[in-house]
Amino acid sequence: MTDIRYLEDLKSFKIDVAHISYVMGIVDKEGFLGHAYFGKHIADDDASYLMRVFEPPFTPEKNERDRLSFYDCFPFEYPTHGIGDFRESAVRIETGSGNYANSLTFRSHRIYDGKEGIQGLPATWGNAADTKTLEITLEDKEAGIEAILYYSVFEGIDAVARHTKIVNKSGKTVYLTKAASASLDMDNRDFDKITLFGSWARERHINRTAVNYGIQGMCSRRGEPGHQEHAFTCLMEKNAGQNNGEVYGIDLVYSGNFRTLTERSQFDQVRLMTGIDPEDFRWELKDGASFETPEAVLVFSAEGLGGMSRTFHDIYREHLIRGYYRDKKRPILINNWEATYFDFNAEKLVNIADCASKLGIEMLVLDDGWFGNRFDDNRALGDWYVNEKKLEGGLKKLAEEVNRRGMKLGLWFEPEMISPDSDLYRAHPDWAVHVQGRRPGLARNQMVLDFTREDVTDYVYSLIKKVLQSANIEYVKWDMNRPLSDIGSACLPAERMGEFHHRYVMGVYKLQERLVTDFPKLLLENCSGGGARFDAGMLYYGPQIWCSDDTDAVERLEIQEGTALIYPLSAMGAHVSDCPNHAVGRTTPFETRGHVALSGTFGYELDVTRISEEDRKLIPHQVELYHRFNDLVRTGDYYRIASFSENHAFDCWESVAKDGSEALVTCVNVRKTANVKSRRIKLFGLQENASYRLLNEDGSDFVQTMGEEGKTLYFHGSTLMNAGINIPDTWGDFRSRLIHVKQA
Ligand code: GLA
Repeated sequence: MTDIRYLEDLKSFKIDVAHISYVMGIVDKEGFLGHAYFGKHIADDDASYLMRVFEPPFTPEKNERDRLSFYDCFPFEYPTHGIGDFRESAVRIETGSGNYANSLTFRSHRIYDGKEGIQGLPATWGNAADTKTLEITLEDKEAGIEAILYYSVFEGIDAVARHTKIVNKSGKTVYLTKAASASLDMDNRDFDKITLFGSWARERHINRTAVNYGIQGMCSRRGEPGHQEHAFTCLMEKNAGQNNGEVYGIDLVYSGNFRTLTERSQFDQVRLMTGIDPEDFRWELKDGASFETPEAVLVFSAEGLGGMSRTFHDIYREHLIRGYYRDKKRPILINNWEATYFDFNAEKLVNIADCASKLGIEMLVLDDGWFGNRFDDNRALGDWYVNEKKLEGGLKKLAEEVNRRGMKLGLWFEPEMISPDSDLYRAHPDWAVHVQGRRPGLARNQMVLDFTREDVTDYVYSLIKKVLQSANIEYVKWDMNRPLSDIGSACLPAERMGEFHHRYVMGVYKLQERLVTDFPKLLLENCSGGGARFDAGMLYYGPQIWCSDDTDAVERLEIQEGTALIYPLSAMGAHVSDCPNHAVGRTTPFETRGHVALSGTFGYELDVTRISEEDRKLIPHQVELYHRFNDLVRTGDYYRIASFSENHAFDCWESVAKDGSEALVTCVNVRKTANVKSRRIKLFGLQENASYRLLNEDGSDFVQTMGEEGKTLYFHGSTLMNAGINIPDTWGDFRSRLIHVKQA
C-alpha cells in the first residue's frame, strides 16, 4: 500500500510504500527538517527519537549558546552551507553581496496523487492511480530563498524518487553554486560502499570499499558521466552480499557532470549525497526565477544487492523508459562498424544485408562514415548529408534494398560533434565549443558543438530530420565520442558561463525529445564511445544504450554485471562480434559470445559474409534462442548467481519470469579449474512447490543424474532453490551453457 502522511501532532512526515518507510521530522520552534528513518517498513508513526534531538547538544530553542553543535550533528534532510553544519552541504547560494550562509526551515507541504515532470529534464513518471508525491517547501526567510523537496513513490516499488527546486524570492539576483538532488543522513552501520569505475572498453566495473571517515566520492567533469565514473553509489552493511543484508542504492537520472559522495562524520553518521558536480557549476537566478535539479532514485533492499538491482530494473522499466519499444522485443540488428569500419559502399552493405536476412537477422545498422566527406575519423562531423560516392543512390535506395530483403535499416549519427575539417565548421567556426583566443584541445580530431545554443541545435536537427524523412530509417544510434573541454560559448555572458554544462545536457535532452516526438516509432539507441553515457537520463529517451565498444565475451561479463547492478537487461546493447576480438584480441567460441549477448538487446557486429562457415551456421540457432528467450530476459527478474569478477573462474546469472513459471540460467566457465568436476548453483525466484523440468538449449533434458538415458527428470522449486543443481565443468576455457528451467 502506498501512503504519504503528514502527522500534525508529531510534526513528521511518513512515507510508506511496498516494503519500505521513509520518515522526516520538523524540529525546534525554528522548524528544521530532519531525516529520521529510511529502510524496511516500520509500523510506528513516531520515529522522531531517531533524530536524537533530546540528547545534548539539544536544539537551538533549548541551547542557543551551542547552536553550532546542533547544526554539526543534526541529520538535515537538505543541509545548507555556511551556518555551522561543517559537513558537505546540499546547496550553496551566493547573494549579490557575496555572502553564502543559508538556513532552510519548514514552511509548508503538499501531498498529491501522480507526479509532475521536471522542466527540461528526464525523470521517472507515474499516473494518479499508482504514484504519489510529497512536496515540502523549506525557506530561508532572511535570504528570500525557497527550496522545494520532492518525494515520489510508486505502488509496489521499494524506492523514492527525489529532486529539489530552488526558488529565488529575494528581490535580487543570486548565484547557485551547488544544488544537490538529494541528501540522506544515516547512522553508520559499518557500511561498505559500491561504486562503478572503468575506462574505454572496460566500463562499470564493481568496486567495493569501506565507508571511511571524511569525504569519499565519484564525480565527472567530462560533460557526460564518462567511461570512468558512474553516478551510482550503494551503501551496504558489512555482511550484506548478493542475497542478504540491507543495501541503499542511489542513482542519478542525469547525463552530465555529477558528484555522488559519502561523508562519515565525527559522530559516526554517514551523509550520502548526489547531484550536479559543483566544480564548474554556477547558475544565475534572477528574482522570481527557479532552478530544478535532476532526479535521484533511492532504493532500499533488505535482500542484498540482488534485491536492489531488481528494484532499479522495475522502476526503470515501468516508470522511466518510454515509447514504442518500451515493452517490445527489439529487432535483431547487424551493425557494420566492426565489419567494415569506414571501408564500405552500397554493394558491400547490401551483400551483408542479403546474407544476414537469410540467417534471420532483422535490421542492418549503417554506422559511422555514410555522410559528407567522411572517409576516416578526421573529418566531416556536422555534414549530415549522404555521401553518394560511397552510397550510390543514397539512403533511399539502400533502405529499399534492405527492406526488400525483409530487414529494417538503422543509421548512426553523432549530432553533438563538429570536425574542424567540415563544411559546417568552415561556415560556423563559432558554433564549436571553445575559449576565445585559446587553441582548443581536440579529441579523435573533433570538437563539440555548442548545444547550449538553440540556433545550433535547430540546425543540426533540421539536417537529421531531413535524412530520416528521406528514407525508411527505423533506428538511430546517437553517438558521442569525446568529452567536453575548453568550455566557452559565444552566446553566454561571462557571469553565466558556469551554466554551460547543465545547459549543454539540456540541449541534448531537448533534441532527443524532438526526435522521439517527431518519429514515435523510431528505435533510439544511445552510445558514447561505447558506454560513456550509459545512465538513467538517456533511458528516458531511448530504451537501450550501447554498453561498451568491448564486445569480447569475457570482458563483457564484468561490464554487463556492473551495468545490470542498476539497469535492466532490456537496456543493455550487446552484440556478437568477430574474433580475435577487436578490443582485446581474445578468441572465444562463437556460442559463448552468443550466450553473453543474449542477455542484452542482442545483435551482431561483424561481417557476416566473411566469418567462417561454421560460425555462420550458428546464427539461425542464436536467432531462434533470442526469439525463444527474449521475453523472459527483457521482462523477468534478474539474479546474479556467481561472479567471475569475484571468483576469477565462473560466471552465472538467471532471468526468471515474475510468476516463477520459467527461468533462463546462463553459465560461463571462463577459466577451466583443474580437477573440478562440477559446480553447484542454487536457483532463485521459482515457486517452492511447483515442478520444473531442466532443458538444454536444444530442447533435450539437462540430466542431473547418471540415471536412465532419456528419462525426463522433474524437480521441485524448493529443491532447485535450496539444494541446487550441478553444472558440469567444461574442458577448456570460455565455454558456456544455457539452462531453461520450465514449469512442468
Ligand atoms: C564509437 C561507438 C562505436 C562506433 C564508432 C564509430 O566508438 O561506440 O560503436 O559507432 O564510434 O565512429
